[in-house]
Amino acid sequence: MQKLLSLPHSVPLRIKIMGIVILFVSLLGLIVIMETRSHMKQVLSEQLEKRGGAIASDVASRSTNLMLVGDTFSLYEIARGLSSHYEDVRYLLIFDKNGHLVVHSFKEGIPNGLLDIRPIPADPISNGTITLESEEGEILDILVPIAEGKVGWLRLGMSEISLYRSVDQLSQLLLITTVVISLFGLVGALVISHLVTKPIRDLATASQGIARGDYSQRVSTLGADEIANLGETFNLMASSIERYTKEREALVEELQDKEAVRQELLKKVISAQENERKRISRELHDETSQSLTSLIIGLKLLTELDAPNKSPSMALELKDLASSTLQEVHRLAVELRPTVLDDMGLIPAVERFVNSFTRQYNIDVDLHVQNKINKRLPGELEITLYRIVQEALTNVAKYAEALNASILLELKPDLVNLIIEDDGWGFDVDQTLESTIRDNHLGIAGMKERTALLGGEFTIESSPGQGTTVYVRIPVERRDVSGFKN
Ligand SMILES: Nc1ncnc2c1ncn2[C@@H]1O[C@H](COP(=O)(O)OP(=O)(O)OP(=O)(O)O)[C@@H](O)[C@H]1O
Ligand SMILES: [Mg+2]
Repeated sequence: MQKLLSLPHSVPLRIKIMGIVILFVSLLGLIVIMETRSHMKQVLSEQLEKRGGAIASDVASRSTNLMLVGDTFSLYEIARGLSSHYEDVRYLLIFDKNGHLVVHSFKEGIPNGLLDIRPIPADPISNGTITLESEEGEILDILVPIAEGKVGWLRLGMSEISLYRSVDQLSQLLLITTVVISLFGLVGALVISHLVTKPIRDLATASQGIARGDYSQRVSTLGADEIANLGETFNLMASSIERYTKEREALVEELQDKEAVRQELLKKVISAQENERKRISRELHDETSQSLTSLIIGLKLLTELDAPNKSPSMALELKDLASSTLQEVHRLAVELRPTVLDDMGLIPAVERFVNSFTRQYNIDVDLHVQNKINKRLPGELEITLYRIVQEALTNVAKYAEALNASILLELKPDLVNLIIEDDGWGFDVDQTLESTIRDNHLGIAGMKERTALLGGEFTIESSPGQGTTVYVRIPVERRDVSGFKN
C-alpha cells in the first residue's frame, strides 16, 4: 500500500507531464465524440422524420386517384420504386378506407405483428409517427391519411440505419482526429517536458557535483521564471560555499604555517637555551673558575709568604684579578639580560643598545621617540619591542650593508608604533620568507610571532636596492596593579 502511494513520486516528471497531456486530450476527445454523437442523432432523427413525412404526403397525393380507380398495379409500382429510390425507406403499406391492406412493398411477405401495431382507420390520437424496435434497429412508422382518410391510409417505415451509419462515420472521423491530436499532443508534451525539466535536471546534476565537493558548479539562469530564480539562488549558494571553503582552506593553511613556525621557534628556543647554558658553563669554567682558582692560589701563597716586602705587590695583582673576574661576571649578567631594561625601562635600554651598535658596526642609527612618557609599558611589551629592535638592527648589520638606519618609536596611550628603516641592499621579501623557515632563519618569523602574541601587526617592506622597513604596531593593554587586564 505504502509502495502504491509512493509510486507517483517515483515517476519522472517528464512522464508525469506526458501522462497528464495524453489523459487530458483523450478525455476531451471522448467527451466531444459522445456529445457530437447524441446531438447528431437527435438532429438527423428529426430530419428523417420530416423527410419521411414529406415522402408519405407525396405518395398519398399520388395514390389518391389510383386508389379511386383501383389501379393496384401502379400502386405496387410506387411502393417498390420507393424502396429503390430512397435508401432509408424500409416499407410502404397502403390501406383502403376500411383498413384493409391494398398494397405493401415487402418482397418476402409482411413481418409478423407489423399490421397489428397500429389500428386502421386510425383514431386521431394514433395519427403521426411512432418508433418501432426491429431486428434491424429503430424504425419510424409514419401514418398518413389519403384524401383525409376518405380514400384510405398509408404507413411509411423509415429505417434509422443509415442515420446510425452517418453518426458512426462521423464518430470514426472524430476518433481518428482525436488520436492524431493525441499523437501531436504526445510529441508536444515530450518537447515541453524536455524543456521544462532540463533546468531541473541541470540543477540536480550541479547539486550532485557540489555534494562531491566540486564547488565550481553553476547553472544557467536564462529567463525570469521560478526555475530561473531557483537557479540564481543555487548559484549564490554555490558561490558562498566556494568562498567559505576557500577561506577555510586558506585559514587552515595559515594555521599550518603558523604551527610550523611555532614548532621551529620552539626548537630554536630549546637549542638556544642549551647553547646559552653551554656558553655560560664554558665562560664560568674557562674564565671565572680559572680566575677564582688563580685568586685562591694567590691568596694561599700570600698567607704562606715569608717576605713581607713582596706581599703588597702580590695583593695588588690579586685585587686586579678579582676586579677583572667581577667585570667578567658582570658582562655575563648583562648579556643574559639587559638589566637597564628592567631598571630604567624601554627607551634607555634601546638608547644604550643603539649606541653600542653604532660603535660596533659603524652604522649611523637615528633614534626618534615620539610622545615620550614617563610611565613604564607592560613588561612583555617592553621586552618584545626591545628584542625586535635588536633583531632588526642585527639584520641590518648582517645583510643590509647600510650606512644609515633609523628607529621611530611612537608611544600612544593605547598603541605603540615602531618603525625600523635602513638604506641598505634590501631583499625580495616574499621569496626570502618562503625559504627562511625551511633554512632555519627565524629572525623575521620570531619578530612576527612576538608581535602576534601581543595582538599586534607586523609588516616588513623591502625590495632589492630599496632598503628595508619593518613596521610594528602593538596595542597597549592596560593592567591594574594586581596585573589583571582592565
Ligand atoms: N635589513 C635587511 N637587509 C637585507 N636583507 C635582510 C634584512 N633583514 C633580513 N634580510 C634577509 O632576510 C633573511 C631572513 O632574515 P632572518 O632574520 O629571518 O634570518 P637570519 O637573520 O638569516 O637568521 P636568524 O635571524 O635566525 O639568525 C636574511 O637571511 C636576509 O637575507
Ligand atoms: Mg636575523
